[in-house]
Amino acid sequence: MRFGIERVFRRIIPLHGERCPSFDRRPGAVGDNGDTLSLTGTKFGCGVGVCGACTVLENGKAIRSCQIAARDANGRSFTTIEGLSPDASHPCQRAWLAEDVAQCGFCQPGMIMTACGLLREHSEPTDEMIDTVMSDSVCRCGTYPRMRKAIKRAAAEMRAKKP
Ligand code: FES
Ligand code: FES
Repeated sequence: MRFGIERVFRRIIPLHGERCPSFDRRPGAVGDNGDTLSLTGTKFGCGVGVCGACTVLENGKAIRSCQIAARDANGRSFTTIEGLSPDASHPCQRAWLAEDVAQCGFCQPGMIMTACGLLREHSEPTDEMIDTVMSDSVCRCGTYPRMRKAIKRAAAEMRAKKP
């Protein structure tokens, strides 16, 4: 049986490098735990690994948290959108704002984490790479063209910052 990140959060696991408290509240939606941990970014969408709304990073790799069994999460460390930076200053977050990507916003935390995973693997992704990776996640508002621009902007900033 698989559990979403909301149940993973109920375990004592490292999140953003710190150990999360354990929870005795009833299982609920991501927002339930988001409220508890003040981590409201990660969204619970399809729950079956298709939409990408629940995407977080593990060792820099984008993963779909709804597909992690709680029993498999013990001892692993995950980063949610809140862990990217304390002040939305991560190049992807800055690029997202600069390109005015978000519309309703629901998918965007997962999209940004997906983009971070892509940029970790490819410092200068092509349009085709971006479209292939990002179209694997669902944005009902159709912000894909702006996401592509934002990823290219973030990639350029990240490359410029490299020594
Ligand atoms: S909620 Fe995890 S992929 Fe949709
Ligand atoms: S911005 Fe609305 S679903 Fe992506």
